[in-house]
Amino acid sequence: MRYRHVSVPRLGGAEVLRLSSDELPAPAVGQVRVRVLAAGVSYGDILLRAGVIPGGPKRPFTPGYDLVGEVDQVGPGTRAPAVGQRVVALVRSGGYAEYAIVPANRLVPLPEGVDPVEASALALNYFIAQQMLHRVARVRRGGTVLVHGASGGVGTAFLELAALAEVTVHGTVSGARADQVRRLGGNPIDRDTEDFLRVVRGLPGGAVDAVFDPVGGRHFLRSYQAVRRGGVMVGYGQNAALRGGKPDLLVGAQGFLGGIVLPKLLPDGRRTMFYNAWSLEKSQPAAYQQDLATVLELLQKGLVSPRVGRTMPLDEAADAHRAMESAAVGGKIVLVPARA
Ligand SMILES: NC(=O)c1ccc[n+]([C@@H]2O[C@H](COP(=O)([O-])OP(=O)(O)OC[C@H]3O[C@@H](n4cnc5c(N)ncnc54)[C@H](OP(=O)(O)O)[C@@H]3O)[C@@H](O)[C@H]2O)c1
Repeated sequence: MRYRHVSVPRLGGAEVLRLSSDELPAPAVGQVRVRVLAAGVSYGDILLRAGVIPGGPKRPFTPGYDLVGEVDQVGPGTRAPAVGQRVVALVRSGGYAEYAIVPANRLVPLPEGVDPVEASALALNYFIAQQMLHRVARVRRGGTVLVHGASGGVGTAFLELAALAEVTVHGTVSGARADQVRRLGGNPIDRDTEDFLRVVRGLPGGAVDAVFDPVGGRHFLRSYQAVRRGGVMVGYGQNAALRGGKPDLLVGAQGFLGGIVLPKLLPDGRRTMFYNAWSLEKSQPAAYQQDLATVLELLQKGLVSPRVGRTMPLDEAADAHRAMESAAVGGKIVLVPARA
């Protein structure tokens, strides 16, 4: 039997994405084959496709950081959910496909009654926000944080999770989207007309407990300056290092060195970290399962509502990337690959 998947044969713009067809592989020991019902399109996919993130998967690769699907076959001797069980997984790549081979220990059950598309809109964004808020920054009830890109997918996750934890959020946003931040309980900072550092300096204490920054480049250093003693600046993206669809490695290096590495040498009691969804795997091996299950449970209980912008079929993956790059769709774009 054959299956279809999107592949990236070489680095470049959205036009490099190809729909390929291959023989369906069988899962090996420790692996499970999942029939994919929904796969989120994330900015990280675009950064990997364009070559902005160093050390990405070997080409050709299938993009897709998360997938929601149904167990279709279990590898020999593998202890795993039963065939037919619905599952969610964060994977470094492989989501944009009708089927994916996934290590059994990456699978987290999809809670009863949860829609696969909504779970896909939630999985990566809410998982990373949950980890950054509660494991990396360990922000306490009553704390105050600054979230950049607060109207985006991860930004919305921060707003909802912070509200549940009774943490105050100040969020940078394009003016037109300020209401979106306000509706979720945050305090918008217009990134076109206001200087976020000045706004933070004007808060009680003049600094925040944590800043979460996906912008990168020189922005990291300014974000670090907004952090109080004992607080942390968490970089988790480098949007500024992608210009007109092309990587600007100098901007990326500037951000990493100037905003993450050099501040670590200053004895000022403020931490910096560059986080990605795999950062805690070694130090806290149980965190992946726990945190993904936690955010899925919040979704099942209706306590969070990830925004689905649009669902698209696999063969429109290039259009999905273009739409994401031009911010044409508000909310998560989810690919719906499986054929009946
Ligand atoms: N490290 C990881 O494991 C990981 C995983 C997932 C995502 N990420 C990163 O998270 C970031 C956000 O992803 P997402 O899915 O939330 O994307 P998204 O939905 O497109 O949201 C990004 C938001 O950032 C804002 N923005 C864009 N350029 C900006 C700039 N120069 N300064 C300030 N804000 C800017 C935009 O809102 P406004 O125009 O309203 O400001 C946009 O809504 C990306 O950088 C992605 O790479 C990292």
